[in-house]
Amino acid sequence: MALKRAARTLHISLRTSAAIVAASLMFADGAALAQSAVSAPPDRIPSSGFRFGETTGEELYASVCQACHMSDGKGATGAGTYPALAGNQNLAAARFPVTVVLHGLRGMPPVGYFMTDDQVAAVVNYVRTHFGNSYSDAVNAGDVKAVRK
Ligand code: HEC
Repeated sequence: MALKRAARTLHISLRTSAAIVAASLMFADGAALAQSAVSAPPDRIPSSGFRFGETTGEELYASVCQACHMSDGKGATGAGTYPALAGNQNLAAARFPVTVVLHGLRGMPPVGYFMTDDQVAAVVNYVRTHFGNSYSDAVNAGDVKAVRK
């Protein structure tokens, strides 16, 4: 049982790392990063076909976000600075986290590229209603699609 769980955790973290590395490599050309991350042109994104398989916000958070923002959403400071999502007022306007997940933000890769609109909505709704956040105006796939373009 424990072994199975460990194997699953390893599997998830390997897949997540692969996606993060891929996403980071896409935007690896230093100074251009800040600008390009805002409107990532599709032609610069390799068509690996990779997609996250998780569907709920909780699963997606655990597989994709937690490595940087930590399981308690409080972020971390060490080799880099990973802001807290816990009690973060920047999440008040739903469009902001949707945009960050889809397009990345400086040190954060655009992980939403590897998700469907439903998955992005699920994980954004999750972080906006957990870790001490209680924003009840949920986003849906249509909202995400409008920001993805
Ligand atoms: C590879 C590490 C990494 C992963 C994975 C990651 N983030 Fe981030 N995230 C960051 C960093 C670094 C920043 C700070 C960017 C900056 O401001 O320079 C950030 C910023 C953010 C912000 C903006 C916070 C603020 O107040 O400005 C939000 C919202 C966010 N991340 C949500 C998420 C969600 C949701 C996920 C999972 C779907 C996720 N992140 C995955 C590293 C990561």
